[in-house]
This record gives sequence, C-alpha cells and structure tokens, in this order.
Amino acid sequence: MSKTVEVLPDQPTLVARALELILSKLETAIEQRGRFTIALSGGSTPKPLYEAIATQKLPWDKIHIFWGDERYVPPDHPDSNELMTRRAWLDRVDIPAANIHPVPTLEANPELAAAKYEQQLKEFFNSSGVEFPALDVVLLGMGDDAHTASLFPHTEALKVRDRLVTVGNKDGNPRISFTYPFINSALSVIFVVAGANKRPALAQVFAPVADDFTYPSRLIRPQGELWWLLDAAAGLELQH
Ligand code: 6PG
Repeated sequence: MSKTVEVLPDQPTLVARALELILSKLETAIEQRGRFTIALSGGSTPKPLYEAIATQKLPWDKIHIFWGDERYVPPDHPDSNELMTRRAWLDRVDIPAANIHPVPTLEANPELAAAKYEQQLKEFFNSSGVEFPALDVVLLGMGDDAHTASLFPHTEALKVRDRLVTVGNKDGNPRISFTYPFINSALSVIFVVAGANKRPALAQVFAPVADDFTYPSRLIRPQGELWWLLDAAAGLELQH
C-alpha cells in the first residue's frame, strides 16, 4: 500500500485537487483497460466535486459509476446518495444509463438489496470466484465518528470479510455498504475530508495504535494506493 496525505488550504482547492487526481486515474484506466470504474460516496463533502466533474469533457461511455454506500431509501428520497449524485453530476452529462449502477434499494429488505448489488457487481466484473474485484477508484468520505461508507463504529458490518456488500446501520437506519475488504481491493482509495469537526476522528485514524472497530476508517488499508485529501481545517495537525 502506498499512502499519500495532502492538506489543501480550503475546500475549493480540496475539490480542485480531488478532481485532478480522479481525472488522472480515469485517464490511466481508460488508456490501460478501456474503461474507468469508480464507486462514489454520499454526504455533503463530495457534492461540489461531483458538480466539478460534470463540467469536464470526458468519454462518458467508458465510465462506470457505482456507490460505495447508500441509504436504504428509494432513489427519489431526499436522503438518497444516488439522487444527490444525479442532480449534481449525472443528469448534467451524456453518460449512458447502462453505465450507472445504483444500489437496488427498492428490494424488499436491506439484506436483499445488499445481496442483489453484490450479484450485480460480480456480474459486471465477471468475478464468480473468491477474489474481490478491483475498482479503479473508491471515493470515500469520513464522518466525525471516523465511519466511512456505511461502516459505522461497533457495528456488525465491520465483521463482514467474505462479502462485497453488506448491510450497515446508522442509529437504527439500515444502509447498504461495500465491506472494508472490498474497498481495500480497489486500485486507488481516495478519502476527501473537510472541516474542523473531523479533526478528532482523523487523529485517531492516523494514530499508530487505536481500535479499528471504534474508528472504522482505520480498516481502509488498500493493497493499492491510499490517498487522503484534506482541507486545512481538518488536516492541519497531520501536515508533515
Ligand atoms: C453517506 C456517506 C458517508 C459520508 C460521511 C461524511 O452516505 O453519508 O457515504 O460515509 O462520506 O458521513 O459525510 P460528509 O461529507 O457530509 O461529512
């Protein structure tokens, strides 16, 4: 694993740097493999990044969009990560509908939704074996409790190591989430984290010793590249 930590002065420069990094991974993936696969995070931080990506002239037919986690709500629900992403980005570009792979949250229950998403991922990556398919990029945020995707502290989702997708839980609300081993199979994992409220969690995630189940972002140790893009409000103390 290669780990890079970059602290940018403010959120606009953080977004610009994240855009630049994603575009470079996109270009390499398409050059080398003819397509680019990315799993997106929800929340508020990535929204301006998605709006920035939407302004780019890209080979949209070669780009495939997944979500690393999703709330167990219909795709037109205000809490839906898919809805936020479509409004900020996907509805603004000429990407084929077949290239957008949302979490099937209309399934009868979260477990079925997770199992169906896993099946769809395996079919897309043509992987029926035990190995985890590798996305080009998994984009992640981090909560002020050090959760990432929908892998929340001290939840059962943190113990799932033999699946691609599982059911997370936030305050009793079910979420659908990539498991941490599936996230770790990505070629590049990119955290984009902003705000002073994230500082205490970052200190624990970056500490030499701390409990992974209390600070789940510690579990993200990809075989590939790990990038932490932080604004100064979040990452000042981490600046080497
Ligand atoms: C979600 C996200 C979640 C998010 C963090 C940070 O579905 O909410 O995937 O993991 O990345 O909660 O959220 P903010 O960017 O809003 O702080």
